Amino acid sequence: MPALIVGNWKMNGLGDDIAEIAAMAGSAANSASRLWIAPPFTLIDRAVIVSAGAVSIGGQDCHAKPSGAHTGCISAAMLADLGAGFVIVGHSERRRGNGETDADVRAKAEAARAAGLQVILCIGETQAQHDAGETDAVLAAQLAGSLPADAEGLIVAYEPVWAIGTGLTPTLADVAAAHACIRERLTARYGGGGHGVRILYGGSVTPANAADLLKVADVGGVLVGGASLTAASLLAIAAAA
Ligand code: 13P
Repeated sequence: MPALIVGNWKMNGLGDDIAEIAAMAGSAANSASRLWIAPPFTLIDRAVIVSAGAVSIGGQDCHAKPSGAHTGCISAAMLADLGAGFVIVGHSERRRGNGETDADVRAKAEAARAAGLQVILCIGETQAQHDAGETDAVLAAQLAGSLPADAEGLIVAYEPVWAIGTGLTPTLADVAAAHACIRERLTARYGGGGHGVRILYGGSVTPANAADLLKVADVGGVLVGGASLTAASLLAIAAAA
């Protein structure tokens, strides 16, 4: 299975930066990895056009409802309507900054599936939880509260909160242990379907550490923030895979 390299641009990118997505798309055919990019909402339609299917384009969040009186919000159906193929839900920056609960994340994941989008569902422990040895319990609780009813179209991303944007990464043994814990919960929840769910690692992934992280058992790809903003950097990560 080729590695899946997903770029999360977060609240970065203006019209000129579409050139980076065009460059990623131009090289995607030569890459052994699959490339997905989640630009800000404002760039999704242009990104879909310039990537011409070579790179899948997705959203960074969606509302749980398909439409209605929710000023400023974007539904999964709207993302699909623009040509998006996936959406990230439950990112720790939304859990923390927007007060999203596991139940909210589950509702968004269900809404995304109903709109035909693949779902990247993010979970991860804080520094304090990591230091207290609570990682497995935190991951199990987040999965129990946020997994959608069906494993179809589902990807889980393990993103330790303390590794995001900090330059810190867990040891490879810790990544392996976390991914094994997630796999166990997925198979307990979905039976055989849980084996097919891809698990990504995210948090300070760079061209320098990607190869080692991608060699860890059950790491099916990476979810990349800062190092996904330029084609040179993201393609270097894809090459490391
Ligand atoms: P960084 O790669 O910048 O640490 O961000 C990771 C992330 O949050 C991806 O969703």
